[in-house]
Amino acid sequence: MIASSMRPSKAASAPARTKKRADEFLMAELVITIDGPAASGKSTMARLLAERLGATFLDTGAMYRAVTLAAVRDHVELRDEEQLARVVERHRFDFEAARGKMLVRIDGEDVTEAIRDNELTAQVRYIASAGRVRARLVEMQRAFARKHRQVVTEGRDQGTVVFPDATIKFFLTAGAAERARRRKEELDAKGLPADLEQIREAIEARDRSDENRAVGPLKAAPDAIRVDTTGLSIEEAAERFYHHVEERCPRNR
Ligand code: DC
Repeated sequence: MIASSMRPSKAASAPARTKKRADEFLMAELVITIDGPAASGKSTMARLLAERLGATFLDTGAMYRAVTLAAVRDHVELRDEEQLARVVERHRFDFEAARGKMLVRIDGEDVTEAIRDNELTAQVRYIASAGRVRARLVEMQRAFARKHRQVVTEGRDQGTVVFPDATIKFFLTAGAAERARRRKEELDAKGLPADLEQIREAIEARDRSDENRAVGPLKAAPDAIRVDTTGLSIEEAAERFYHHVEERCPRNR
């Protein structure tokens, strides 16, 4: 059980800082990155793959969501990068890998469910575009990977920015209509009313924002394996991922 804290270590000495820089790119033995657009099934694939490999699952979207929730609760102007950076320093954020999901806490309060709220989801784009916040979260993600032997991580920039030397990189796609349908099914299963067209519009808006931001935009690494899950069941898609891992990474056979 590993908990990571985003609070910066207090007054790191100069030698300690030098050491940190030297260690910065040391990684887990195995890092698998899965990037892709909103609701493309990254979390499900990453979780299933991690389970099958006995690896740790890292949900980086949860980190952006947690900072957004803290900023909203602090009534911070979301376009003000300076203020957003202060939110990150002011609170303690813990991300803990537990049974195929990430437990997220802000100042000790469990917000794992609260960060999935639809309204909050629409506001994450401000935090995702704030370069200083991104830089801090990227550091956190690398620190997380250094603490675990095998990591399956998912997000938008994992194969391009955060882990350019990852063992295997995937880029997941699925048509917007299919992604909207899947999201509606999830909401229906939870008994939450949802309009398919509205979900689709929200997904497409997030795609545009993710693809067009200046820092850490959503894009496939040149060496990423592209997997289009349109029309595939979860089991078929998971099998496809595992097959690629077996092929590319014989030590996991
Ligand atoms: O994967 P998700 O829906 O939980 O991600 C929430 C938002 O966080 C998404 O709209 C974009 C942002 N994000 C990001 O910018 N970079 C990441 N590595 C992960 C998520």
